[in-house]
Amino acid sequence: MVKSRTHNCGELRTSDAGKDVVLNGWIDSIRDIGKIIFINLRDRYGITQIVIDKDELIKKAGQLRNESVIAVTGKVRKREGNPNPKISTGEIEVIAEDLSVYSIAEPTPFVIESDVKATEELRLRYRYLDIRREPIKEKLLLRHRAAFETRRFLSENNFVETETPFLTKSTPEGARDFLVPSRLNKGKVYALPQSPQLFKQLLMVSGMDRYFQIVRCFRDEDLRLDRQPEFTQIDIEMSFVNQSDIMSLTENLLRHVFRSCLDYEIKEFMRMPYSEAMEKYGSDKPDLRFDLRLYDITEIVRKMSGKVKMFDEAIQSGGIVKILPLDPKFALSRADIDKLESEVKSTGAKGLARFKINSETDWSMAGWAKEIPEDIKKEILNYANITKDSVVFVQFGEKRLVNNVLSFVRNTLADKFELKKKGEFKFVWIYDFPMFEFSEEDNKLVACHHPFTSPKEEDIGIIEKEPLNVRANAYDITLNGFELGGGSIRIHSPDLQRRVFKALGLGEEEINSKFGFLIEAFKYGVPPHGGIALGFDRMIMLMSGAESIRDVIAFPKTTSGTCLMTDAPSVPDEKQLFEAGIRFLEEKK
Ligand code: AMO
Repeated sequence: MVKSRTHNCGELRTSDAGKDVVLNGWIDSIRDIGKIIFINLRDRYGITQIVIDKDELIKKAGQLRNESVIAVTGKVRKREGNPNPKISTGEIEVIAEDLSVYSIAEPTPFVIESDVKATEELRLRYRYLDIRREPIKEKLLLRHRAAFETRRFLSENNFVETETPFLTKSTPEGARDFLVPSRLNKGKVYALPQSPQLFKQLLMVSGMDRYFQIVRCFRDEDLRLDRQPEFTQIDIEMSFVNQSDIMSLTENLLRHVFRSCLDYEIKEFMRMPYSEAMEKYGSDKPDLRFDLRLYDITEIVRKMSGKVKMFDEAIQSGGIVKILPLDPKFALSRADIDKLESEVKSTGAKGLARFKINSETDWSMAGWAKEIPEDIKKEILNYANITKDSVVFVQFGEKRLVNNVLSFVRNTLADKFELKKKGEFKFVWIYDFPMFEFSEEDNKLVACHHPFTSPKEEDIGIIEKEPLNVRANAYDITLNGFELGGGSIRIHSPDLQRRVFKALGLGEEEINSKFGFLIEAFKYGVPPHGGIALGFDRMIMLMSGAESIRDVIAFPKTTSGTCLMTDAPSVPDEKQLFEAGIRFLEEKK
């Protein structure tokens, strides 16, 4: 029988001394000092010290192990020994008068403690035990509070939370779909939504005006520390708005959530065009907690053609030359630089060229520095404000690779010199993204955001002629070097939507079969609209200082998309396959 608790394990104080109480919980630790046993009893709310000094109870408690679940009936008293300032109940203890055992625990596969030594694999295999640990529990509680405050803020601002289907059609967000075979419609599949994009736009056609949803999205893509195959978005759509309306709504939402959950006042939301972010930081999600920056010296270097063959080759094949100067106050040993170079190679770079600036004209480290004419050296130093004794990293070649590599170097140096201040949140809006990019993998144009994003009005005329120069009404909110969210103003003209689909290489038939319902809906009165989605897991990861979104999801997947606890995905049985009408292709050995 359950002995209903009168209090939880985190709430008793000296003002409760003398009260008769019942506590329920897990044994966090047990200390037997002869005639007395001390138990630290734990539940979600805290830990209370139980003192057992009655002979018959000592016998009973002596058989218990950590993590067993018990009920204690007893009296609260001010601690006789020293108070424990580490726990909220540290000034009191409960003298046990009775003890019931609900469940005796076997030794756990790892010790339930904050600084756990177990590997992440073991912790994920026994995730329910991992969640007993304070750091994971705290993050789930923060997650709950942030979801609650998000709902409160949006509801108070006239947003309506509306659920949208999980069994649906493909929503192109750039990843692969997870497919679900339909038993009732043999040979056909549903796709799990990569986001509710099309439904939220249709809700604007419906006149819902302001929609939100804290919603699960599914994307079959390569996983990283900030990516899971199923993740949660705060998804928002609004009618009769422009870009700045959505930005200010998002800023107010973030201010509210950070203030109410972390007591943190967001000072500033910086804004930076995409082109500037790429030029200065080599990334569309620059971490601006530190100000190392890159300089494009292609035009300066072009003037000394014939001197440095590597630069000439890069420029002739359409590439660029960029540098990242490091102030002399950040000293790097030879070993540091060698280590950095070997890490850089893992990003696809051939190497990491560098100069040491001994004086305006004396540059060492790279042997070929002496080939650079003195006036060019001076111009470079001047252009990038480089001082004597600086080390300057250089990359040349294809633009994307150069930016990736130097952005990686920038981040790695910031880690090394501890420039990423903990507890500081630097928000930056990145806007004016390109509308399209060329995908080497698919050998065609793809949408940088998604195909429902409206091009900037002044660029609509060049969609067919110069698609790569079309800018989009799209924006990302970034935080400390992560893409926190992204959104756009949508196309609401059926004609423009068709032109964008065509630019993406979709034929008339494909447009109609995939998105006919959207274009049709636009025939019946559609408001101008736009929206944004914030990665909720990423937001909690950054708010809580977690290293990975796995830490802020109750039951996450590994980087290979498996659940170590349930063993999903698993092999279906023959009957299930037959009913769903599926036969697997034999895997080629
Ligand atoms: P987007 O694709 O930019 O936009 O996604 C919005 C935000 O969702 C988060 N996110 C992820 N988080 C964890 N794991 C993943 N695999 C993952 N993929 C994305 C990111 C990202 O910024 N429908 C549009 C939004 C819109 O236009 O309104 C969309 O989904 O934080």
